[in-house]
Amino acid sequence: MTTPTAPHAAAPNPHRFMPSGPLKGRIRVPGDKSISHRSIMLGALAVGETRVTGLLEGEDVLATAAAMRAMGAQVRKSGEEWLVHGVGVGGLLQPQSALDMGNSGTSTRLLMGLIASHGITATFTGDASLSQRPMGRVIEPLSQMGAQFHGSADGTLPLVMEGICPAVPIEYRLPVASAQVKSAVLLAGLNTPGITTVIEPVPTRDHSERMLRGFGAELDVEEAGEDRIITVRGDAELQPQTIEVPGDPSSAAFFVVAALLVEGSDLVIENVGLNPTRAGLFEVLRAMGGHIEELDRRDVGGEPVADLRVRHSALTGIAIDPALAPSMIDEFPVLFVAASMASGTTTTSGLDELRVKESDRLAVMAAALSGAGANITEREDGLVIEGTGGALLRGTANSRTKTHLDHRIAMSMAVAGLASSDGVEVDDTRPIATSFPNFMALLDGAAS
Ligand code: S3P
Repeated sequence: MTTPTAPHAAAPNPHRFMPSGPLKGRIRVPGDKSISHRSIMLGALAVGETRVTGLLEGEDVLATAAAMRAMGAQVRKSGEEWLVHGVGVGGLLQPQSALDMGNSGTSTRLLMGLIASHGITATFTGDASLSQRPMGRVIEPLSQMGAQFHGSADGTLPLVMEGICPAVPIEYRLPVASAQVKSAVLLAGLNTPGITTVIEPVPTRDHSERMLRGFGAELDVEEAGEDRIITVRGDAELQPQTIEVPGDPSSAAFFVVAALLVEGSDLVIENVGLNPTRAGLFEVLRAMGGHIEELDRRDVGGEPVADLRVRHSALTGIAIDPALAPSMIDEFPVLFVAASMASGTTTTSGLDELRVKESDRLAVMAAALSGAGANITEREDGLVIEGTGGALLRGTANSRTKTHLDHRIAMSMAVAGLASSDGVEVDDTRPIATSFPNFMALLDGAAS
């Protein structure tokens, strides 16, 4: 059976998240989105069958699966497993129609990397949110490798790219801390003769490096002062793998914060990925006084994992070190919710990247939380939040929170609704399906 991409229903789907009783019991969040994308892409480049369990079946990952099928790989579900039959590095085929990336920046930027070193031409399209996001950050290095980009003066979708084979190996120092840009260049390097190098001044999530090595690519990482120097040898041959995808810490984050905020909560979230390049939020919440215990720490699919036991806690505001930002970059919206109910002030800075996510997450969260009664000051590169000292947020009795097609805004404001007196109504819950299709069902179960 193949699973097609599930496009959003045509009309927005508003929902009021009501104040909740304690979150209790044990839940399991879906597979990690970053690892899911990469397992399909690398499986599609290996010769033979890669088997994946725990794959996130969210719209973003399904967009990657559809694109890899359009370029010749077989990607299908059989029972609980996803099976990917790859075409081999260099074997991607010309897609016959535009690649619809939906809401997914990761699909777009990583696939541009893959296509850059294949002699094929592809048109990329996306939804209204994705069509505003900057692609110049991947266009620049991939152009240095020889790819060409047409049809977009300002570097946004829709655009057409022409890959080239052989591409030119480059040494590229990342101007922004972005795992997507790093991964795009490394993936392009797989089918490029010689050595492709990425220099990372600030460490970002390293799933691509771990998985490329797991598939047998010759990849080295060297530390030189603050820099990480990552090299990959081209003309690689990838061996198919069996992959178990751990639970997504970015999805667990919503339940962790909900359990911390709602009185009487005691919740276990099983199988949460705790790769150090992803686990910054849990460190910050502990520093704010959150009771988050790691149970049964183990390894799943080459990634550290544990069950998290989270109990209601009184939180205290802190100044968050901007150096932690890459390790919790997707978790700031829900951290802002936690900070809104802490005692004292939480200060965040160095978060310019949040302005170019699925929405401008600084402006959108400042508006959403202020609308729900929180005390927020928006600065150029962060928010300053005066917490309520543990009191519930007021919520939104007569208005709808604007989520701007951003799944993480919708889920963060859902958590704010649970910890409010009037509830919070979000204008559209459809985007939640991009990363966390069973969010509402899990919330209903845990908070009943
Ligand atoms: C991702 C990297 C991050 C993150 C995104 C997933 C990835 O983006 O925000 O949700 O899988 O590589 P940036 O590379 O833009 O920081």
